[in-house]
Amino acid sequence: MNFKDQTILITGGAQGIGLSLSKKFCSIGANVIIADKDRQTPDIADRIGVFGYVCDVTIEQEINDFITFAEEKFGQVDCFISNAGMIFVDPSHVASASNTNWELSWRLHVMQHVFAARRLLPGMLKRKYGYLVNTASAAGLLYQIGDAPYSASKAAAISFSEGISISHGDDGIRSSVICPQYVASNLLGFNDPSEAKDIDGLLTPDTVAEKVIESMAREEFLILPHPAVKKYLINKVSDYERWLNGMRKLKKKSIAQRGSAKPTDILHLI
Ligand SMILES: NC(=O)c1ccc[n+]([C@@H]2O[C@H](COP(=O)([O-])OP(=O)(O)OC[C@H]3O[C@@H](n4cnc5c(N)ncnc54)[C@H](O)[C@@H]3O)[C@@H](O)[C@H]2O)c1
Repeated sequence: MNFKDQTILITGGAQGIGLSLSKKFCSIGANVIIADKDRQTPDIADRIGVFGYVCDVTIEQEINDFITFAEEKFGQVDCFISNAGMIFVDPSHVASASNTNWELSWRLHVMQHVFAARRLLPGMLKRKYGYLVNTASAAGLLYQIGDAPYSASKAAAISFSEGISISHGDDGIRSSVICPQYVASNLLGFNDPSEAKDIDGLLTPDTVAEKVIESMAREEFLILPHPAVKKYLINKVSDYERWLNGMRKLKKKSIAQRGSAKPTDILHLI
């Protein structure tokens, strides 16, 4: 796909991967509109030469209003990158996160994608043209030790993305699911992406955005900015018991070396 003059909407665009994607798409001539719950979004958008919209993507009406805002600016939406997300650390055992966090994780990491697709698909199907992209995570393909709501909802996001491709791939609808491993963004407590160079396997949001845009240009469904994830996934499906055992060992190693096994500990051990 050639992105010049395409209208691309990106949620979670005020920082991190979403902001990097927005800058890069803008630099190659796309019409970009970002949405984020951050009140500074219009100013951030202004600084990088795109449009900004403040909304909460867990609320269907707010996604609908964001898309209407974009259509009023540019006409039809060609591509929607549903990217906003956050992590939830398990307070203790695997079911210990509050119902509030489980429900928020579901709405943010699954229903956000459903709401966007529900609003956009009728027009895209009529035009036989459109690209729906969901940012999930390697945590959805594998598992994020220490964050059950995140892992389970990201796995569901991958399944819904597969559904888009299977149900509508022959109707002119392109789809991708982005599954990064660790990225030096605020989500993991990195204020400065350059800290990525000190930690093996950690990518900057800019590097992830570059790889995503290359993969999207080739219209690849499964986008893995970290090549090692493919190897881990093959290991998982080829011997599930061995993979589970390896994940338990990784958890033990994290507790032994770092005193806990939160997502922000595990990223130092991969
Ligand atoms: N950072 C990582 O290591 C990593 C790894 C795999 C996947 N991801 C995924 O990549 C995506 C982007 O993450 P990031 O690392 O850039 O994080 P980030 O925290 O830098 O950016 C996420 C953005 O989403 C916005 N957001 C969160 N909830 C929202 C809501 N309800 N409505 C509107 N906006 C909301 C935040 O305000 C923020 O600007 C997320 O879906 C995340 O799960 C991140």
